[in-house]
Amino acid sequence: MKWIAQVTSSSTLRQCLEELAGKGKIDLMRLAMLTPMELAELCNVDETVAENAIRKARQLSGYNPIKRLSRGEKDDVIKTGIAEFDEKTPWGGLPKGKIHLFAGKYGTGKSILAMQISASALAAGYKPVYYIDTENAFNERMMDALLRRLLGKPLDDVPESDLVVVKTADVFALTEVIKYEIPPEARVIVVDSIIEPFRAQFKGREKLASRQQWLHYLVDLLRRRTIAGATVVLTNQVSARPEVLGEEDAPAGGNILLHTANTIWRLRRRGQDGGYIEALDVPGLARGTRYNYTIRDDGLY
Ligand SMILES: Nc1ncnc2c1ncn2[C@@H]1O[C@H](COP(=O)(O)OP(=O)(O)OP(=O)(O)O)[C@@H](O)[C@H]1O
Ligand SMILES: [Mg+2]
Repeated sequence: MKWIAQVTSSSTLRQCLEELAGKGKIDLMRLAMLTPMELAELCNVDETVAENAIRKARQLSGYNPIKRLSRGEKDDVIKTGIAEFDEKTPWGGLPKGKIHLFAGKYGTGKSILAMQISASALAAGYKPVYYIDTENAFNERMMDALLRRLLGKPLDDVPESDLVVVKTADVFALTEVIKYEIPPEARVIVVDSIIEPFRAQFKGREKLASRQQWLHYLVDLLRRRTIAGATVVLTNQVSARPEVLGEEDAPAGGNILLHTANTIWRLRRRGQDGGYIEALDVPGLARGTRYNYTIRDDGLY
């Protein structure tokens, strides 16, 4: 591959990149999105060698991890399809290019919302959408109903390249998918849910540190995707130890998740067929600001 010779003169690194590229695990853009530490570890080369290669890859691919903010720039949004949320939030939806975290107890509508945001993004031409289902909970019938409602097309008519649904069995698989499978051009990345596999697979207090470290790395990989223009939607269960936080439905996952997500919301059920989305930590919104929704056969309204 031509780009490999262009990014490095190290034969070890070239050989490694050839191998990875042969397996479809790397291309110029993906290389550009790595850090020198990651590449050094991946290919067993010196960090300076890795650094030079990545710098070159960033030049050649046009990937720019440094974003200069223009004052007064208006955030583009993805509509949620929930009328009150879209009408009353200051942005009129979910700002693009950010990490949005939705926490809530079981059955509050997190998975429906995650699918609904995917459908809405597709309807706005914002694609491809990568939907990672870590709980084997993806509901095709609901997705079909949502697509009919928001896009005007059944699920069968949506190309699999526009809406990619991936199920992952463990946190390693989840990390691999985020690192190697989701292409740089993905516009929306959904993980439903981010915390459950960690809770299940890092049991016990002695594993807490390594769990937090891994989770931190994973969310950081996603954060890098937001710099490349993707919007990330994460769902999250609520704390298993309410006695510590004093709230029975505080988001799980500890500080890392709470600090890395750009907006944090909580879903709460109220009454038979609805509830509200509450701002927990959303820049520009008072904590506790609420937007009501109702659940119907074709999603949240
Ligand atoms: N047509 C409908 N009318 C009213 N409620 C519905 C309808 N269809 C599904 N629901 C409700 O939606 C909820 C399911 O939402 P969802 O699967 O998104 O929950 P969740 O927050 O992802 O839960 P979990 O934490 O278990 O994954 C259930 O409580 C179900 O009763
Ligand atoms: Mg769910």
